[in-house]
Amino acid sequence: MQYRSIGVFDSGVGGLTVARAIMEAMPGQDIIYYGDTARMPYGDKPPEEIMRYARQIIEFLIGRGVGAVAVACNTSSAIAVPVIGRDFDVPVVGMIECGAAAAAEASRSGRIGVIATANTVRSGAYSRAIRGMRPTARVVEQACPMLVPMVERGEVSGPDVRNALSEYLQPLLEANVDTIVYGCTHYPFLEAEIRAMAGASVALVDPAIKVASAVKAAIGEDGSRQTGLPSFVTSGDPSAFAELVSTLLGWKMQEVEHVNLDAIGAHAGEGDMLGRPDRA
Ligand code: DGL
Repeated sequence: MQYRSIGVFDSGVGGLTVARAIMEAMPGQDIIYYGDTARMPYGDKPPEEIMRYARQIIEFLIGRGVGAVAVACNTSSAIAVPVIGRDFDVPVVGMIECGAAAAAEASRSGRIGVIATANTVRSGAYSRAIRGMRPTARVVEQACPMLVPMVERGEVSGPDVRNALSEYLQPLLEANVDTIVYGCTHYPFLEAEIRAMAGASVALVDPAIKVASAVKAAIGEDGSRQTGLPSFVTSGDPSAFAELVSTLLGWKMQEVEHVNLDAIGAHAGEGDMLGRPDRA
């Protein structure tokens, strides 16, 4: 039997919260992560662009031999997965159904808040999915456009983060939600500030755990014959990417590859090894 790696992608570093969950659920499984930093944020891009990026990246990952793709970006999951998710020879797992299921399970009152990008909120994907599972649920969705740029700057706490969160969380807390879904994979990095503001009684739901289970079921492998080493590819600056990942997760990267899919074409699998970040 041929053992294959798992492809994971996002507009930037947010999807690493999903890669981390996959690595915890499947120790030993090889992962290839694509962070489309040069074209982020996706949160306010036209839907056709989001779809084009998703197709390019999935084809690139398939070219690298992955056996399944986790779309570790809610924006791409909301907009592209329903349209193009079945166009490929490998399973493509998105965030929305997993996040909706986790929220529907976690909420006692049925009042559920979703924080996400403007595109994800506009799509209404979370409200539809949650109400599909729990028809009486009251879902309040809040776009949080300032948060992704903050996380991508490595800013996950402090007064600016708190000011932004207070604006975004207020409508949800006023609506008395008992559950808040991280409808963007960047937001788990802000968990300490979100928890402090939301209080202990609100359940904070990260779809990543269910996504990891879904990917495990989809690929049908246990990773025991693999190295368990993730490899990283970015469309942006490899050194900056490595430095940010080290700040956010404490992961020290040996190398980050640079691949610009617009420049080399969607089917090309070869990039140039530019990143030689700190090996500390
Ligand atoms: N992390 C992504 C998401 O889950 C998108 C962030 C962005 O580029 O706006 O939606």
